[in-house]
Amino acid sequence: MYDLKDRVLLLTGAGGGIGKAIAEHFHELGARILLADLDGERLAASARTLDPGGERVIAVKYDAAVPEDAAAAVETCLSRFGRLDFVIPAAAIYEDHPFTEMTDAQWRKTLAINLDGVFYICRRAVPVMADKGSIVIIASDAAHEGASPGHAHYGASKGAVLGLAKALAKELAPRLRVNAISPGCIDTPMIDGFMRRWGESMLAATPLKRLGLPREVATVAAFLCSDGAAFMTGQALHPNGGSHIGG
Ligand SMILES: NC(=O)c1ccc[n+]([C@@H]2O[C@H](COP(=O)([O-])OP(=O)(O)OC[C@H]3O[C@@H](n4cnc5c(N)ncnc54)[C@H](O)[C@@H]3O)[C@@H](O)[C@H]2O)c1
Repeated sequence: MYDLKDRVLLLTGAGGGIGKAIAEHFHELGARILLADLDGERLAASARTLDPGGERVIAVKYDAAVPEDAAAAVETCLSRFGRLDFVIPAAAIYEDHPFTEMTDAQWRKTLAINLDGVFYICRRAVPVMADKGSIVIIASDAAHEGASPGHAHYGASKGAVLGLAKALAKELAPRLRVNAISPGCIDTPMIDGFMRRWGESMLAATPLKRLGLPREVATVAAFLCSDGAAFMTGQALHPNGGSHIGG
């Protein structure tokens, strides 16, 4: 669909449902990829499956909440691949804590991973990214519509990364483009609890009457990184089955 041959992607949250689909799709399109996630061993196994020769896909153990891990991921990317074109920070958590019981530590944990983590990786990547590179921040429907009950910290973090994407789009132009993807409900482990509680009503209110597939986010990410989106920056795209217009 798009030729991303030899371009280099740094992907966080690469072991998750959407992260895996992004890695697979960018691999199909010819990119070289650094996969970063908490579970380094599981990720190394995924990298070997995707790229048995280990030439185009490597994996690093990485905690989004730790600035030194962000620096190390960027350095590894440059030392192994010699360049960095695309950054997709997809690592996030979606914990369930009713607001009136939410502790400061629970709030901070979500913000540390979902917001600080995006800052850490972008801050270290941007100075060394190749010209005409692209950042695709994974926000959420929650950034636009408000998060479901029990997820105020998640909603706040996603609203913040959407604001960050728009601010960076202005500040880094014209050298780099920065866009966001705000998925609706995508079939990954992250939303198991949500689906048990609200799945039926959510699907009823979604015109396409199904969950999205991780690959349907990956194709949007590839478009945003490709020359097909060369005149797009500061935008949010919404793979959500039409949920904003209602069922
Ligand atoms: N699934 C959905 O319906 C949905 C909807 C909107 C937005 N999103 C966003 O899409 C992105 C991917 O979510 P997903 O559905 O694939 O979820 P997922 O739970 O399958 O994957 C999330 C990944 O992030 C990793 N992660 C968690 N904490 C981390 C940390 N401290 N450091 C490094 N990695 C860490 C996990 O190990 C996991 O591999 C997230 O940013 C999520 O907020 C998902």
